[in-house]
Amino acid sequence: MEALKAFDEFISDAMASIDKATTLDELEQVRITFLGQKNGRVRHLQTLVGGVPREEKPVVGKRFNEVRNQVTESLEKKLEKLSSSSKASEPEFDLTLPGVSPRIGGLHPVTQTISRFREIMGRFGFEVVEGPEIEDDRHNFEALNIPEDHPARDPLDNFYIAAARSCSGGPVLLRSQTSTVQIRTMENSKPPVRIVSLGRVYRPDTMDATHSCMFHQMEGLLVDEHVTMAQLKTLLNLFARSFLGPEVQIRFRPSFFPFTEPSVEVDVKWGDSWMEIGGAGMVDPNVFRAVGYDPHKVSGFAFGLGIERFCMKHFEVDDIRRFYENDLRFLKQFQYWLTLRLSNNRILTQGNTSTVDSERPADTTRIRCKTPLMHSTTNALRESVRQIQTVSRIQERYHCSLSGPLQNRHATFCPT
Ligand code: PHE
Repeated sequence: MEALKAFDEFISDAMASIDKATTLDELEQVRITFLGQKNGRVRHLQTLVGGVPREEKPVVGKRFNEVRNQVTESLEKKLEKLSSSSKASEPEFDLTLPGVSPRIGGLHPVTQTISRFREIMGRFGFEVVEGPEIEDDRHNFEALNIPEDHPARDPLDNFYIAAARSCSGGPVLLRSQTSTVQIRTMENSKPPVRIVSLGRVYRPDTMDATHSCMFHQMEGLLVDEHVTMAQLKTLLNLFARSFLGPEVQIRFRPSFFPFTEPSVEVDVKWGDSWMEIGGAGMVDPNVFRAVGYDPHKVSGFAFGLGIERFCMKHFEVDDIRRFYENDLRFLKQFQYWLTLRLSNNRILTQGNTSTVDSERPADTTRIRCKTPLMHSTTNALRESVRQIQTVSRIQERYHCSLSGPLQNRHATFCPT
């Protein structure tokens, strides 16, 4: 029978060609030659099957299917064999290629400064509290002993929110100072009070190298029995030294704030110049009265420090606007500062309530430091330290050195 003979020829030719094929491309050619739908030899066999007499059709048809399946199977087997051997011969990973260094984010220098402030004040026993940035008359002025006709309330010196006024029934503004949090805290708790609050304040100042219409302050308030100005001075001295280094000096100049009496401006000497860092004083009895404290029983001190001022001095940044421009070339320089500090001081290995003795200035022993470090800060930083450790492990392993921010002077600049 002509058809069966053609089948045998087809199968022996196909098997021989499959055997001979040594690459995936050659094998594909074999498939097209024999099984190709358009011009493959299988087409000819199909025509033969169509031409056999009716009674022979079942036998010939069955044989045709067997032949085609056999060839298809052999092709598949060979395909598998060739593709696995071609994979094995390819190198899996080229060790000589330069690596792709992972991009690691960092905390903004102002955020790092805030974390550091919280950490230092935490060790001095101050709890961190938050207050709203949109305030009413009472908390921004009235309870702070700032009378209605006081120039500090001038609309030109504050961001009043006209739309909010109509809903709340009184003036509403973006807070111009964090002293608002003094009032909110005393309204909600009994003495003794020992808090700091760090956050944004808003004033319609013209932007220049040292002024911004939004900046950050740290407010501090301590209320207890027999609180003295000497304690205020000691605390600010210790604070400045903890942040800027032991060589720093502090100076108080007489001043006036409606909510403190006596009031002072605080300057810090660092290098050759004096830098104004904020205001402070003994809490005015009228403030105590406004929140229901008895000024004959308690006394206290308060201070408000400009956070950017410290940050600029510490990192030697000459223009406050750089902090708000989101220029990565600027921001990247501060990427590792706090993380390195923390890992140096082993806060990370000591758990959440560590007190970092190695860092405590020599004369802070009189102030008890039982308050836990700010957990959230420590936890947030753990992750970035982990990332840095991973990078250094990779570097050690592949003997490459870090030529970026770790060697930048800001990283080694921190006082230890
Ligand atoms: N709130 C004052 C300011 O913003 C600073 C200050 C705070 C002064 C607390 C005395 C006491 O300038």
